[in-house]
Amino acid sequence: GITRHYTFEIKLQNITRLCHTKSIVSVNGMLPGPPIIAREGDRVVVKVVNHVQNNVTLHWHGIRQLLSGWADGPAYVTQCPIQYGQTYVYNFTITGQRGTLFWHAHISWLRTTLYGSIIIFPKRNVSYPFAKPYKEVPIIFGEWWNSDPEDVISQALQTGGGPNISDAYTINGFPGPLYNCSTKDTFKLKVKAGKTYLLRLINAAVNDDLVFSIAGHTFTVVDADAVYIKPFSTDTLLLTPGQTTNVLLKTKSYYPSATFLMAARPYATGLSPFDSSTTAGILEYKKPYNYSSVSIKHLPLCKPTLPAINDTSFVTNFTKKFHSLANPQYPANVPQTVDKGLLFTIGIGSSPCPRNQTCQGPNGIKFAAAINNVSFAMPTTALLEAHFFGKSNGIYTADFPTNPPFPFNYTGSPPNNTMVNNGTKLVVLPFNTSVEVVLQDTNLLGVESHPFHLHGFNFFVVGQGFGNYDPSKDPANFNLVDPVERNTVGVPPGGWIALRFFADNPGIWLMHCHFDIHTSWGLRMAWLVLDGKTPNQKLPPPPLDLPKC
Ligand code: C2O
Repeated sequence: GITRHYTFEIKLQNITRLCHTKSIVSVNGMLPGPPIIAREGDRVVVKVVNHVQNNVTLHWHGIRQLLSGWADGPAYVTQCPIQYGQTYVYNFTITGQRGTLFWHAHISWLRTTLYGSIIIFPKRNVSYPFAKPYKEVPIIFGEWWNSDPEDVISQALQTGGGPNISDAYTINGFPGPLYNCSTKDTFKLKVKAGKTYLLRLINAAVNDDLVFSIAGHTFTVVDADAVYIKPFSTDTLLLTPGQTTNVLLKTKSYYPSATFLMAARPYATGLSPFDSSTTAGILEYKKPYNYSSVSIKHLPLCKPTLPAINDTSFVTNFTKKFHSLANPQYPANVPQTVDKGLLFTIGIGSSPCPRNQTCQGPNGIKFAAAINNVSFAMPTTALLEAHFFGKSNGIYTADFPTNPPFPFNYTGSPPNNTMVNNGTKLVVLPFNTSVEVVLQDTNLLGVESHPFHLHGFNFFVVGQGFGNYDPSKDPANFNLVDPVERNTVGVPPGGWIALRFFADNPGIWLMHCHFDIHTSWGLRMAWLVLDGKTPNQKLPPPPLDLPKC
């Protein structure tokens, strides 16, 4: 591979959407930010210069970061933030991945405006396992607030309530024609008839799963989270925040000047704040050179039909269609046995409302979220440095519970103890442990789908179901042959999902709900993967420019 150099200047930029102009924190003044374009095997070097008052870190979502944990980016986990006037160089190699990923800020809610695509082509002289597309197009979904999202989250945390929802969803930064004062801010994709386009889809929205469709067209899904899959066709896609997918779009054979709407709006199941508005873009067929407009009448704009907002059966059927290629060229290295099995309950609960305060959650509570009743407390210094230099005392403990502390029952009434505990606790894994973690949604304040993301690894989704996970029955139905391999997956609302991975990457790796509001409430934890014995199984020392807290 070669080395690809980028410079990302973090600076303020005035942007107008929905007739509101505001100053956003941007990379190089762009929304979405600049794409990273590389081949599998390339080294990527991104020099980030922070010109704004906000502390910033960037995360390369889904990049394996093999032995490069210092470049992963979550604030206070792998690094201290890049402060005003400071520079940090992220340096990593893309190993064994091809497809689409994305980068985003990983501190507070700055990723609302700091995000962009990561486009990974196969190695030179290696082709796709499908016919070469005519053109490739990134499509990034986002969310736009007319106000400053940093104020939205700090206000929500101060009052203990839910945050104000966004004012629009966006496609490549544009809300599109279905919002007021937005017609000119519409993403338009001009296509030729009879060609195959590769759409690289990214859900960079902050708090919403999204469904997406293009009127009159069908997709063939070929890649998920930068791993090829067995192709399948569908009219509608679902992406949770943090998921990426590549689809082929074959255009119709002869539709001069026809226009079709592409549209996305939420799939939403629970407490998570959402609105039901729709972001739209336009797919427009170009006129061929010899086109005579008199001979063909102009077709009206067609709108796609999207599933109902809480259509969990659509989502369940859709997610079941994903399978690894699992062939000799692209094997699926699924752990067949488990060294360490864990069961994590996921719940939105509460923590005590501070004295002299009225909290704005239900029944006057303060929202908090927890895994196995532990709400992750962010440290004030970087965990990975504390570990590497043997200074973990008082920073974190290695006792994250591997099982729920009290019996839970999804179908029963919530346990009395909905109060969460705060702590900075890690699960410690010896190098190359084969891990199985079952994520169980709970109904402390109602069931809800949660998009869980693991840093530093892909996992295999070996099983899922509704209700309580049953360790005596469910594993018999696990798929250990061709389960999908991803970095982000939706835990079914009121159900469970079983994930397996090999802990072959030393470092400290966050796992969290990719709804930012849930993460802000503490729905995250971290794994500490220890060094192995040989030099290529050890985390190297940090780069000299690693920011200080
Ligand atoms: Cu896409 Cu921890 O993040």
